[in-house]
Amino acid sequence: MRTHYCGELNTAQLDREVTLVGWAHRRRDHGGVIFIDLRDREGRVQVVFDPDTPDTFATAERVRSEFVLQVRGRVRRRPEGTENPDLPTGEIEVLGLELDILNSAETPPFHLDDDSVSEEHRLRYRYIDLRRPEMLGRMRLRHQVTRELRRFLDDNGFMDMETPILTRATPEGARDYLVPSRTHPGEFFALPQSPQLFKQLLMMSGMDRYYQIVRCFRDEDLRADRQPEFTQLDIEMSFMDEDAIMTLMEGMIRGLFDTVLGVKLDDPFPRMSYQEAVRRFGSDRPDLRVPLELVDVGDLMQGVEFKVFSGPALDPKGRVAALRLPRGGELTRKEIDDYTKFVGIYGARGLAYIKVNEVAKGRDGLQSPILKFLPDEVIAEIMRRTGAGDGDLVFFGADKAHVVNEALGALRVKLGEDRGLMEDGWKPLWVVDFPMFEWDEDEERWLSLHHPFTSPKEEHLDLLESDPGACHSRAYDMVLNGTEVGGGSMRIFRTQVQKRVFELLGISDEEAGDKFGFLLEALKYGCPPHGGLAFGLDRLVMLMAGARSIREVMAFPKTQTARCLLTDAPSPVSEAQLRELHIRLRKLPETSS
Ligand code: AMO
Ligand code: AMP
Repeated sequence: MRTHYCGELNTAQLDREVTLVGWAHRRRDHGGVIFIDLRDREGRVQVVFDPDTPDTFATAERVRSEFVLQVRGRVRRRPEGTENPDLPTGEIEVLGLELDILNSAETPPFHLDDDSVSEEHRLRYRYIDLRRPEMLGRMRLRHQVTRELRRFLDDNGFMDMETPILTRATPEGARDYLVPSRTHPGEFFALPQSPQLFKQLLMMSGMDRYYQIVRCFRDEDLRADRQPEFTQLDIEMSFMDEDAIMTLMEGMIRGLFDTVLGVKLDDPFPRMSYQEAVRRFGSDRPDLRVPLELVDVGDLMQGVEFKVFSGPALDPKGRVAALRLPRGGELTRKEIDDYTKFVGIYGARGLAYIKVNEVAKGRDGLQSPILKFLPDEVIAEIMRRTGAGDGDLVFFGADKAHVVNEALGALRVKLGEDRGLMEDGWKPLWVVDFPMFEWDEDEERWLSLHHPFTSPKEEHLDLLESDPGACHSRAYDMVLNGTEVGGGSMRIFRTQVQKRVFELLGISDEEAGDKFGFLLEALKYGCPPHGGLAFGLDRLVMLMAGARSIREVMAFPKTQTARCLLTDAPSPVSEAQLRELHIRLRKLPETSS
């Protein structure tokens, strides 16, 4: 139906006759001449209709926004002074000779150039939203990314293999989406939170190198970088250690950024231990673009009169840390109050600070409600450790370590953004040396920091029972600009170790047999050493696109409450369907609507 895409045309086609198809982006009438911006996937071009061709002109008069058109016309140079340097086709226009309206369109719910449309509206009419060049660009980028990743993996001997979607629960720590079985009354499939166990089984089958671009399903609280169904680039390989895996995988990501964005990432990516990341940045996914660091001052505070500080300083699970903000002396009272509210989101009960007017004057050069509690030598040491200079401000967090880490870790990034301290560019790193387990205060038991198939360090095997908290795993996370884009580990490949880890997690033999019996059994029949990782494809593309949320790089995402506004799923089903599935609904809670 076409000879060219609209966006392809330029002076190379001058005087040529072309046939185009696409949507009427805009129609303008100008003193007896009609201009239609015709748009297709590749861009748009201006088509001019003049009254010399009366039939065609009459048809053009009927065209409205988003009508679908076919145009035959001749490419000509735009008259001098009317070129549009912002448009790739801006030097030329097409003189319309014939026009066919292939389909009309009702007035669309929003115009494509309107960027004030609410996200709800955009999701409701996603097929129109996706027509916007910005969205099209993101979808195209996503395609380029998957194409490059596939190419790399193919070149490196990875086999693309599918794994079941109707399966058993997989333990990635979120709630499962369940699917009732009609043929097995009272039984349910779970949608996979990841293909973790299947890819391990594929290694046991001798597939050696596997990958899959695969949908994963997790019923968890949603945020800007989380969706209930999302896409992983899932990878597993045999007979390689973590060092070889990390080297190969960062090579893939470097190649991706180079080819698709023309960006050179660090070679090699820096590696940082979990402990160092948390100590310096309060986070296991530090954004290294922000040049601010947490500094421990707990040892200085153990004896001070200020209980807010001495309490956590004396608590083995507490932390007292300082965060210096260069030129923070400029902050107003209101701004400091707002930051205090901000850290409150993370459970911090306050945000003490010292304004540094003139370091040389000691105590008299400082300004703070907490100065009166701190002896001179403590103040001097705080100034020294934080490197505070005239005009700076030092924030303090004091609480359980995880509260301080989360609060000051988030504050660090917020200050970086608000105060223009964020460095440009890309800061990738690997975070390694994760603890195997974390203690769940509420349930009073150990939980896996990654998943229960993650291998402990060989040299930490003895700690499994004696000091589980000190046991490190062979896991690694890839972090880019403060986002965890991927994570994985070497896996347990010996039955005995797997059993010990299950035991520690409080998973009884019976439960292990029930849930993962097939895995334990497979381990017995010649399991190779293996490991792998999974990238969050949506997150990766989000970062590469410079988008605010992963919803912006997914064609049909769900809302924060896990609803599809386009199809209005989930939805009630008929009584007949329920009966077939052997399901009777409980009385639903009253809804407010
Ligand atoms: P993990 O749970 O860390 O590991 O997931 C891997 C990566 O997937 C992305 N991700 C998400 N993206 C969008 N929405 C979500 N709800 C979501 N949850 C996770 C993140 C994360 O780094 N089986 C292991 C991998 C392995 O050990 O090989 C796993 O799934 O970018
Ligand atoms: P208060 O004695 O409660 O008035 O607190 C004095 C200062 O300490 C205020 O600036 C509070 O914001 C701050 N503050 C209170 N609790 C904490 C805490 N847990 N961590 C850091 N600062 C705190």
